[in-house]
Amino acid sequence: MTSSTGPFIAAIDQGTTSSRCIVFDRDGRIVAVDQKEHEQIFPKPGWVEHDATEIWTNVQEVVAGAIAKAEITAADVKAIGITNQRETTLLWDRHTGEPVHNALVWQDTRTDALCKELGRNVGQDRFRRETGLPLASYFAGPKVRWLLDNVEGLRERAEAGDILFGTMDSWVIWNLTGGAEGGAHVTDVTNASRTMLMNLHTLAWDEKIADSMGVPLNVLPEIKSSAEVYGHVKDGVLAGVPVASALGDQQAALFGQTCFAEGEAKSTYGTGTFMLMNTGDKIINSYSGLLTTVGYQIGDQKPVYALEGSIAVTGSLVQWMRDQMGLIKSAAEIETLASSVEDNGGAYFVPAFSGLFAPYWRSDARGVIAGLTRYVTKAHIARAVLEATAWQTREITDAMTKDSGVELAALKVDGGMTSNNLLMQTLSDFLDAPVVRPMVAETTCLGAAYAAGLAVGFWPDTDALRANWRRAAEWTPRMPAEQREREYKSWLKAVERSMGWVD
Ligand code: G3P
Repeated sequence: MTSSTGPFIAAIDQGTTSSRCIVFDRDGRIVAVDQKEHEQIFPKPGWVEHDATEIWTNVQEVVAGAIAKAEITAADVKAIGITNQRETTLLWDRHTGEPVHNALVWQDTRTDALCKELGRNVGQDRFRRETGLPLASYFAGPKVRWLLDNVEGLRERAEAGDILFGTMDSWVIWNLTGGAEGGAHVTDVTNASRTMLMNLHTLAWDEKIADSMGVPLNVLPEIKSSAEVYGHVKDGVLAGVPVASALGDQQAALFGQTCFAEGEAKSTYGTGTFMLMNTGDKIINSYSGLLTTVGYQIGDQKPVYALEGSIAVTGSLVQWMRDQMGLIKSAAEIETLASSVEDNGGAYFVPAFSGLFAPYWRSDARGVIAGLTRYVTKAHIARAVLEATAWQTREITDAMTKDSGVELAALKVDGGMTSNNLLMQTLSDFLDAPVVRPMVAETTCLGAAYAAGLAVGFWPDTDALRANWRRAAEWTPRMPAEQREREYKSWLKAVERSMGWVD
C-alpha cells in the first residue's frame, strides 16, 4: 500500500515487449506498477508481429494489477492516460472487435519493396515534405497498404466501412471505451504523425497521400490532441474514469522529462532508442537524416513539434543476446559480463536487424560484427553490444547539432537500459557530454499521466510538472578525446560494412 494519499492518475504504456500500468500521485511519484510481457512473433526474417488480442488481455490485467497493488478504487483515479509503441499497425472488424491479422510491428521490414515502389512512382521528397518522414518500412501507412493487399477480401471489407485502422493507442482506447459498443475510434497528433498519412502542417489526414498509399480514409481514426477526454472507461476496475491522454511513447517521454522549452531534448533507452528535441512551433526539415514529428498538443493549444533521431535496435540487441544467443541469462547480466573486460577487444557490433534507421535510413542494411580475431571473447561482444547503443546515440546527437545548430550541453536519459551504469558512462564518454537521469526513470508513463492530469485539471500547468523533475544520477566524460575519435572511426567503418546486404 502506498504512503501517498490520493487522488491519483493512472497510465497505460503499451510497449513493444510488454504492457504496463503505473499509478502516480500528485508529486509524480510511482505508487504502484504492474507489467506483463507479450509474445514476439517472427514468421520470416525481417517480419515482426504481435497478437493484438493478447495485448488487450494483458492491458486489462495490468490495469487491474496496478489498482490492486495500490489498494485503491476507480473513485481515487481522476484520469487515465495512454502511451504506446508507435507505428505498430492493426486493422480490426468494427462490428466484432476481431483483429483481421496480427499487428505489424514497427520493426517489421516486409514493406521495403512497397516503399521503394512508392518512392519511384510518387517521389521520396513528396512524403517527407508533407509528413516529415522518409519513405521507410518503419511507418504505419505502408503497413496498412500491405494488409489491405495481402489479407483476402480485406480491401472490399474496408471500402464497405467494416474495418478500422489504429496504432496501439487507438486499439486500447477503442476497447477501453466500449469497443464494438460505441468505443471511441481516435488517435492523437503524435501517433498520427508516425503514420505517413497525416499532414504535419494541417494536423489532418492528407487525402492525396492516403490515396497514393492506397489507404481508404474511412478506416482512419479521428485525430485529437494529446490531452483531452476521449471517452470514459466502460468496464473493469476503472469503469467510469476519463481516458484523457494519448501520446506515442517517445513523445510521452519528452513530456515526462518536462522538455517543454525549445531546444530541450531527451533520449529513451528501450527496445530501440529515440532522441527527441523540442523545436517549439517550428517544423524543422532535417537535412541530416532525422525525422520531423509532433512532440505534443495540449487540448486546443498550438502543437509543439520535435526533431527525432530513431535507433531501431538497442535494448532488443541485449534481449537477442539473451533469448536467441543464450550468452546471458538476464538482461542485467550484460553489464557484469561487459565489465569483466577493459574494452571491446577490437570488435564492433552494428545491430542493423531492421535495416538502419537514423541518420541513414538504409533498409538494405543487416547486422554485422566487425573486427573479429581469435582474441575476442563473449565479454568483448557484450561490451560491443553496449557500445553499439552509445555510438548510435553519438551519430544522432551529431545530426541534431547539424540540424539545430545547438551543441549538446547535457543529455536527459530514461528507459530500462539507463540502470546500466557501464552503458551510461560509455554514453557520456562517446558524446563527450554529461548524461543525466531523473528520479522517475519511467518517464513514458509519467508523460502520459501528466498529459491526462492536465486535461482534467489535476495539475494546473506545465510549471507544476517541471517542479516534480528531480535529478537522480549524472555521468561525466572520462575518455581521452583522441581515443574517442579513433574508436568512432572504427564504428563508422563497421556501419559501412552493414549496408547493401539485401537488395
Ligand atoms: O517508434 C517505436 C517506438 O515507439 C517503440 O518504443 O519503447 O516500445 O521500444 P519502445
